Amino acid sequence: MTFRRQHLLGLEDLSRNEILHILDTARSFRQVLERPVKKVPSLRGVTVCLAFYEASTRTRLSFELAAKRLSADTMNFSSSGSSVQKGETLLDTIKNIQAMKVDMVVIRHSSSGAAHYLSRNVDAHVINAGDGFHEHPTQGLLDLYTMRDRFGNLDGVRVAIVGDIAHSRVARSNIWGLVKLGAEVTLVGPQTLMPAEIAKTGVKRVTNCLEEALETCQVVNVLRLQLERMTSGYLPSLREYARIFGVDTRRMEKAADKIMVMHPGPMNRGVEIDPAVADGPNSVILDQVTNGVAVRMAVLFLVWGGAPASEMGSEIALHK
Ligand code: CP
Repeated sequence: MTFRRQHLLGLEDLSRNEILHILDTARSFRQVLERPVKKVPSLRGVTVCLAFYEASTRTRLSFELAAKRLSADTMNFSSSGSSVQKGETLLDTIKNIQAMKVDMVVIRHSSSGAAHYLSRNVDAHVINAGDGFHEHPTQGLLDLYTMRDRFGNLDGVRVAIVGDIAHSRVARSNIWGLVKLGAEVTLVGPQTLMPAEIAKTGVKRVTNCLEEALETCQVVNVLRLQLERMTSGYLPSLREYARIFGVDTRRMEKAADKIMVMHPGPMNRGVEIDPAVADGPNSVILDQVTNGVAVRMAVLFLVWGGAPASEMGSEIALHK
């Protein structure tokens, strides 16, 4: 299969086969990351700009490392300390960056739709690194990769996503991807933090009983509680949230034996997840981070026009 997308904007747009193709390509790059020399020449001469209008640790560093592992040149742009503070628009900024002969723009922005907007207005390849409440496709992909690593095939795998679903771009990308790969998704959280459009996503089960979800699911993906929500009247208090929806050792005693515990980070330890669970034997949280580099290598490579995974040998080639 040839990946024909110029941009990666979300998982809602992708077919099951396109998602599987990215994940298969990431598997080849994951092997590259185990070599003594963790670098391939696939994107030599390509320039990738990381344009981050919101805070990030994992996504930003992971994209930067992924680009470097592919031998691309990287540029970093942060809105803080830039001409954004003098009133420059998003489009003007990115057009100026593009004028420096940048080939790919990885964008994180607080506005839902920012990556789509750019993709319609610039020639560079655009990759969404998280836009508002909308999507965080590479987080979704790395979560799928991590689950596939364990289960092989996600058809029928039971996955609980716990927390503030309504405001989570990670939840949205996970839901689109999981449903397309045949997983059975359960959403867990307070009614005030459930999105109105669940039926449209293909998710069939919603509950506010965390214990029941832990007992029946093979994976629990714990979302970060966005503490700014506390001031918006969605939740009575942090303590109350942790008491009812916190994944802690007591609840884990009732969980399925080998339940896989995931979290996209950054974590609020002691709120949505107990430190003993985050660091415990069921946690794959740092594996997610490792897999994220391989997944982002695959995304950069394929969006740029990389060769099909089946043609990738020791030389990872470009057909462009
Ligand atoms: N998971 C995630 O998006 O983390 P960062 O905000 O640190 O990039």
